[in-house]
Amino acid sequence: MTLDLKALVRTIPDYPKKGILFRDITTLIEHPEGFKASIEQVAAAHRHLGVTHVAGIEARGFIFGAGVAIALGVGFIPVRKKGKLPGETIGQNYALEYGVDTIEIHADVLDSNDTVLLVDDLIATGGTAIAAVGLLRRTGARVANAAFIIDLPDLGGAAKLEAEGVEVSTLMA
Ligand code: PRP
Ligand code: ADE
Repeated sequence: MTLDLKALVRTIPDYPKKGILFRDITTLIEHPEGFKASIEQVAAAHRHLGVTHVAGIEARGFIFGAGVAIALGVGFIPVRKKGKLPGETIGQNYALEYGVDTIEIHADVLDSNDTVLLVDDLIATGGTAIAAVGLLRRTGARVANAAFIIDLPDLGGAAKLEAEGVEVSTLMA
């Protein structure tokens, strides 16, 4: 029998603000088979691309992105929140479903020979992922694919990211 990954994600109402239905992946990642299957499914769907790197967005994107990078045998790029990287950085501001933030990468981490798969736990408005794709592309790298465990289709983020020329794959809505 195949494991129901969606059943392993719980929904918590009114977190972090009233009106937000928070999709909590901690219950998925504490389930050994569920965590492994989610990583393996993302890796299997993108193995044919031959990407040079996986980039994951802080913090929840690190959990899945690092696993996918290991499964694909490529390096991992942490897309970090502002002020956390020690070298020279490039940054991008963006709006969230519940706030504003800035993400950064090291300025010298990629070049035009690289192809990147972006990984995060969830896409909602798409603001974070679109900012990350724009930031990664500023290095000259190709970013044509992004993978998320969860899509919140009512918020339209996946469609917006597709409009930016990024093929989006998700494991559940
Ligand atoms: C969450 C989630 C995505 C982003 C999705 O991260 O992990 O990165 O929001 O929202 P969007 O599609 O509307 O941009 P959050 O900024 O809450 O940070 P965290 O991973 O540190 O909890
Ligand atoms: N990030 C943005 N919106 C979210 C939601 N509804 N649940 C979990 N993470 C999120």
